[in-house]
This record gives sequence, structure tokens and C-alpha cells, in this order.
Amino acid sequence: MKSRTIDIWEQTVKNPPKDYQEYFIAEKNFLKNNISKESITLDIGSGSGRIIKELAPYVKKFVGIDNDPEAIELSKELLDNIKNVEVYLEDAEKTHFKNKTFDVVFIGLTFCNFGESKFRVLSEIKRILKDDGKFIFSVFNENALSSREETYRHYDGGYTILDRKKGLVRFNKDNAISEQFSKDEIRSILDKAGFKINESISGKMFHIFSSKKG
Ligand SMILES: C[S@@+](CC[C@H](N)C(=O)[O-])C[C@H]1O[C@@H](n2cnc3c(N)ncnc32)[C@H](O)[C@@H]1O
Repeated sequence: MKSRTIDIWEQTVKNPPKDYQEYFIAEKNFLKNNISKESITLDIGSGSGRIIKELAPYVKKFVGIDNDPEAIELSKELLDNIKNVEVYLEDAEKTHFKNKTFDVVFIGLTFCNFGESKFRVLSEIKRILKDDGKFIFSVFNENALSSREETYRHYDGGYTILDRKKGLVRFNKDNAISEQFSKDEIRSILDKAGFKINESISGKMFHIFSSKKG
């Protein structure tokens, strides 16, 4: 077992601790309330394609990108035969999509893995999102570290807490990082990137936001 984000994540999805179960339900319902049969939707960091599979029946088209070849292989298996989906091996910082392609861009917790590149990713999202489109994303919240550690403890390769107060963690084998955010931190990041929050919900370990360009 390699200690890559997708491996770690797939273990969590298969056997989610209680706080993650709450998150998965909230995430699905929030997204469902923000899409329609007209939506052209992008999932950034689509992993195994779990979200795309569940929500493809509710949108016109669901596209996924992930920068891990193994994730793309997994998602191609899971999404085989679903007509309105496409997945691409691509990095969120620079995609092949034309300007203003998507009605909805979604990121499920992957925002916590971007580290220093988060502003480049936000700038790319701004480019490919329609002017009235929605950018919806979830993050680990400021209290999430103990729930996160419940899942991290089992991983081959181990992890290092770089800053406990900020919830900044590095996975030792591949140096991937994961962080967590308060609502104020997200507000300030979005403000700098040119987005405004329309709606948000929170649970024990997460915040989920719907935002627009502005
Ligand atoms: C925590 S998993 C979430 C998977 C999926 N969103 C889900 O909820 O099941 C993070 C995924 O994001 C991908 N990822 C991380 N950084 C990325 C980037 N810069 N561009 C594209 N994908 C990325 C990883 O390869 C991994 O599959």
C-alpha cells in the first residue's frame, strides 16, 4: 500500500468513522440542492468517481479531473456505461477546459490538499466557471484534527503533524499535505481570489460553502 492521497481516502470511504459519515451525507445533500438537470458540473479531485456516480442522474453532464492515474483508472471502472460523465487525468492548476464552461465546480475536501497552490487553483476555477456559476467546496474545519487522525493512524508510511494548532499534516511517503480551515480563513482566501460566499453549512469536522464570482 502506497501512502498516496487516493489510497488514504479510499480506506476512509470504505469504512468511514462516525464524523465522516455525517460529512458524506451533508455533502451529498448540499450538492444535490445546488445542481439541476441543466447543470454542467465539474468535480476537481474526483478520486474513485464516488460523487459523480451518485449525482450524475441529477445533472446534464458531470466531468471529473484528478491528477493521480490510479484514481482515474478506479473512476473509469466505477463510471463505466454512465453516458453523461467524463474523467480526465489533469491537475487542477491548469485544465484544458474553455473559459466559462461550468455551471457548478465542486471540490470535496481536496481543497485541503492544495497547500501553496490553492490560489492558482482558485484562479483556474474562476476562468472555467460561468459568470453566474457556483463554486461549491468542503474543507476540514478548525476542530477536525482528532477526527482526521482517527483515519490517518492506520496508514502505511505514517504522517507528521507539522502544526497541531493549524491542523497541518504531511503524509510521509509522498509529502502530500492536508490542512484545515475556519470560516474566517476561507472567507479571507475567497475574498483574495475574487469569490463571495452565498451559503455555508458546518458539521463536527467540516464546513461546506457555496460561492460565486464577485
Ligand atoms: C481526499 S481525495 C477526495 C476524492 C473525492 N473527491 C471523494 O470525495 O471521494 C482527494 C483527491 O484529489 C486528488 N488531487 C489532489 N490534488 C489534486 C490536484 N492538484 N489536481 C487534481 N486532483 C488532485 C487526489 O489524487 C485524490 O484523488
